[in-house]
Amino acid sequence: MTESTTIRWEQDGTGVVTLVLDDPDQSANTMNQAFRQSLTAIADRLEAEVRADPESVRGIVFTSAKKTFFAGGDLRDLIRVTPDTAQQLLEGGLAIKRDLRRIETLGKPVVAAMNGAALGGGFEIALACHHRVALDAPGSRIGCPEVTLGLLPGGGGVVRTVRLLGIADALLKVLLQGTQYTPRRALDNGLVHEVADTREEMLAKARAFIDANPESAQPWDRPGYRIPGGTPSQPKFAANLPAFPANLRKQTNGAPYPAPRNILAAAVEGSQVDFETAQVIEARYFVELAAGQTAKNMIQAFFFDLQAVNSGANRPRGIEPRPVRKVAVLGAGMMGAGIAYSCARAGIDVVLKDVSAESAAKGKGYSEKLCAKAVSRGRTTQEKADALLARITPTADPNDLAGCDAVIEAVFEDPALKHKVFQEIQHIVEPDALLCSNTSTLPITVLAEGVERQDDFIGLHFFSPVDKMPLVEIIKGARTGDEALARAFDLVRQISKTPIVVNDSRGFFTSRVIGHFINEGVAMVGEGIEPASVEQAAAQAGYPAKVLSLMDELTLTLPRKIRKESKQAVEEAGGTWQAHPAETVVDRMVDDFGRTGRSGGAGFYEYGDDGRRGQLWPGLREHFTRPGHRIPFEDMQERMLFSEALDTVRLLEEGVLTSVADANIGSILGIGFPGWTGGVLQYINGYEGGLPGFVARARQLAERYGERFAPPALLVEKADKGERFTDARRPADA
Ligand code: NAI
Repeated sequence: MTESTTIRWEQDGTGVVTLVLDDPDQSANTMNQAFRQSLTAIADRLEAEVRADPESVRGIVFTSAKKTFFAGGDLRDLIRVTPDTAQQLLEGGLAIKRDLRRIETLGKPVVAAMNGAALGGGFEIALACHHRVALDAPGSRIGCPEVTLGLLPGGGGVVRTVRLLGIADALLKVLLQGTQYTPRRALDNGLVHEVADTREEMLAKARAFIDANPESAQPWDRPGYRIPGGTPSQPKFAANLPAFPANLRKQTNGAPYPAPRNILAAAVEGSQVDFETAQVIEARYFVELAAGQTAKNMIQAFFFDLQAVNSGANRPRGIEPRPVRKVAVLGAGMMGAGIAYSCARAGIDVVLKDVSAESAAKGKGYSEKLCAKAVSRGRTTQEKADALLARITPTADPNDLAGCDAVIEAVFEDPALKHKVFQEIQHIVEPDALLCSNTSTLPITVLAEGVERQDDFIGLHFFSPVDKMPLVEIIKGARTGDEALARAFDLVRQISKTPIVVNDSRGFFTSRVIGHFINEGVAMVGEGIEPASVEQAAAQAGYPAKVLSLMDELTLTLPRKIRKESKQAVEEAGGTWQAHPAETVVDRMVDDFGRTGRSGGAGFYEYGDDGRRGQLWPGLREHFTRPGHRIPFEDMQERMLFSEALDTVRLLEEGVLTSVADANIGSILGIGFPGWTGGVLQYINGYEGGLPGFVARARQLAERYGERFAPPALLVEKADKGERFTDARRPADA
């Protein structure tokens, strides 16, 4: 009998066969070649045994010897698929489906005993089982997150969720959002049948199902089965069908995400045919996605780059981690309040200091609101919320900061004030406390001059709203030590955020690059292009926020202040300030029309008394728009995307950025660079024609719209050498 390598066959005297998923060569089970071969061998053996003696196998339990049940597709393999090797992928996928189907239809009860996370391929194995018992292990998640990697569940996930839940629920609850459920929420949503608290209980429940259902079959293999909620061939359902493309549009905003479209097609088309044909349809749509560029971009960013960034590729080696116990947050405004909440949520004691006890208490009030909301939505318990709040001490007295082993400053963006607040507390906190500033633009090296221990001083740039935004940009000043960098990195991980590391420069990476996006959008208004088209171009390029509305949020006076400071710095260094065409538009908006943005009640948009955004300001058309003036829509989108990508290359040239993974992750998680690109440098790698194609297009844009689009030397050099943007330690290349 064939011995399989990644699936262990265990059989006891009772006739229950336990198939233990246990890849000897990897820490997690994946759908690699060894698995494919093992699964075929297992299906062969099961069929042979049942044929020889139908009583010898009473039931089958899939479980795993790893921490996770099964990790899913092998992304290292998937990222390398090309249109030429797609056929091979198609055949491999169909073989897995065929083998799972053979086990599913053997006539014996099949149970998934899911001892840990079952995402993607793992959940698809479980879906092929008649009964699913999930162990409620910490961190265990269940679902089909493929869409977040630009893919679809190609192991029968679309076919079976549609047959299990109906088309609408399968799409909305599982396939289109890629939601990852806890075992209990998976139970509530009908994805699993039972939840167990211990491994023993899980296996006992699996056996109990086998005992009670000796002739089990899937609902869809029983006579008279119909897809819940109907299919498009039925009139009632057909009436709802037009809602799906609208949903899809809402999800993608018209941006080039092919996965949701293919998922919808596979679900709807597959619902109208028999199971086997549906599997083939699903496989074809899967392979089309896997062979395309978007999936490669998204796998590179959301899997490999994110892993590289979070695992500390940039953290100095050999420095012992020292978790922060008590943090001082200086300034209880919008950012300080959010930072205090994020730290307290991670179990760190927080002393939240502001100029008065009232403003400090107001800052804590933000956490009170977030906690109340979380309790009312069932996301936390009252007990946990109370404990979180008890960790935050609001104060106006600097002496209350005694014992703090880290400081995060978030007072007004004023260097003199920042110096002052650090001087006030530097001898009160622990003598070796980590000293961080949340400045969004000021050079860290200059701020560090305000403290005695400059090597312990570092930038920790959070994003607003802090409780939701996953990124923190760590900025190393000229005198920041490795120890401080390692501690800052660990602190960011301690509060479960993603740290990217950059060297000091005005605006660092994120603030500087997002400025180019905004400037480009504003400049187009100045050229006379319809403002509504500019907004549409940003949305359809995949930006989460429209460009003029973002400018309003940030306030129009901010770029003026930054411009003034930057100009001064450039001129002091003997350089010449390169004016951007956006500047005159901003100046006119503020000086001539008094429109400073949302906080001022009027900007590119109108705002209601409650601060709600209304229509674009009609005056824009009157004062800026040249009726009938148009440029290609593609140019509008690419001017925004290119302006950010080109400046990112300049930041690499300047040594501000030192890692491609950090640039990609920082751009997506911090400043809303569209996710389909895989990040700002992966966008260049994946551009049609590769780097040479990107260079050619940049030159064309420079000719049409200005020298700021001229490709930097590093880009041209890499294009000439046939290279791409990649890190030495990067695990994969898309
Ligand atoms: P904010 O104006 O909401 O809050 C500043 C707070 O600092 C106020 O509560 C003020 O009373 C307090 N403060 C002033 N002097 C103080 C002192 N001597 N001691 C203690 N507290 C004092 O400002 P926001 O938006 O929270 O920004 C704070 C810092 O974070 C700035 O450096 C800003 O550039 C930076 N930042 C802001 C972002 C944003 O989206 N607003 C994003 C990232 C960084």
